[in-house]
Amino acid sequence: MTDYLWQKPGTCVDARIMKFLAGDDVLLDAAFFVCDIRASIAHVESLQRIGMLTVEEAESLVRELRALADDFSSGTFVLDARYEDGHSAIEARLGERLGEVGRKVHAGRSRNDQVLVATRLWLKERLDELESLCAQAAVVCLDRAAHEALPLPGYTHLQRAVVSSTAMWFAGFAEAFIDDALRARQARDWIDANPLGTAAGYGVNLPLDRDYTTQTLGFARMQVSPVYAQLSRGKFEIAALDALGAVLLDARRLAWDLSLFTTAEFDFVDLPDEYTTGSSIMPNKRNPDVIELLRASYATVAAARVEIESLLSLPSGYQRDLQYSKGGLWHGFTHGLAALHLLPDLLARMQWNAAPMHAAIDPAMYATDRAIELARAGTPFRDAYRRAAVDPLPAAGADPQASLSARVSPGGAADLRLDVLRARLAALRPPQLG
Ligand code: ARG
Repeated sequence: MTDYLWQKPGTCVDARIMKFLAGDDVLLDAAFFVCDIRASIAHVESLQRIGMLTVEEAESLVRELRALADDFSSGTFVLDARYEDGHSAIEARLGERLGEVGRKVHAGRSRNDQVLVATRLWLKERLDELESLCAQAAVVCLDRAAHEALPLPGYTHLQRAVVSSTAMWFAGFAEAFIDDALRARQARDWIDANPLGTAAGYGVNLPLDRDYTTQTLGFARMQVSPVYAQLSRGKFEIAALDALGAVLLDARRLAWDLSLFTTAEFDFVDLPDEYTTGSSIMPNKRNPDVIELLRASYATVAAARVEIESLLSLPSGYQRDLQYSKGGLWHGFTHGLAALHLLPDLLARMQWNAAPMHAAIDPAMYATDRAIELARAGTPFRDAYRRAAVDPLPAAGADPQASLSARVSPGGAADLRLDVLRARLAALRPPQLG
């Protein structure tokens, strides 16, 4: 173990206590390490701009920081319990490589703004990824909605209700994922504020070039008040988890549908072989584990949100409690995004089974069509409703395609308005999709 950053001559350090304080912190910091290094480079450049470092000193610090990022990515540098945390590891390495110059890096910053800026950069990347995944899922849904319109029973209360279609099912999830992409974008924009340069939470007696770090790190704005920068820790994480949770709530309902539709009892959907696993004891089993873990992912995110919200019962200013916000955040985003990465392919390759879906549409499911048909011809709706309860078949008879072609209400099967949804998605211009 290297000395702690804060260790002064004569400081008492108890190994058991340090172990408790560290917990899994340094391991978690590995997730944010590259972002921490990026922000450290910006900090060094800003120190040089105000004359705290010479051009040569700044150049060698930046060079070593870049080398550290490369070594970390290639596995040559391992961030482990030799260090108290990722921030200490950066300073230790610069000290080792550059001696006195390395020991200059921390002027005007604190681990308190360092952790804030690293997690914020990380979260912005994750939210971009989230937006892009939502958009990809929406693209697949829109495409399938446009190309297949097989009759599918529509359920309410899980009881047969009215005729629906695979196109309506896909169009519904397309719109959900477009809204979710928008939500991810809004969360990203909302947290897009630079906390670097707020130090321990009270500013410093240096004219730090915070405009420069804001611009070079790609933030939309400066988080001006150092006190607010600390108040935003956890609060911004919750906003990001909420955006992720919104997607996973939709994914959970989608997964539930697939879980039901793939049972022998429904048999509406077949999944590609790769999406199913077997049982260790029951040779006959084909289990849809992927959709079950997709359904379960929301729980991790919900737990992270509750954990962080529970931690935030704090006075203003940095409190060590906040360290525990990183675990849930990392876990929630890692599980959630991993599940969502599989979603576009799963949606593209799931197969509808037309015959069982058709067979599950019973004559009573036309009763609403019939009641409305009678009402259109002048019968008061309540009277028409009573007649259709006894005699449910409309003029077209028990014909699911006729029922679907007559569903002209905007958004209904005969007027899906996929062009409106496509335009909405295009207006978002999500990352990676251009
Ligand atoms: N590991 C700490 C955290 O995540 C980093 C900041 C530590 N700051 C301090 N003053 N001990 O919050």
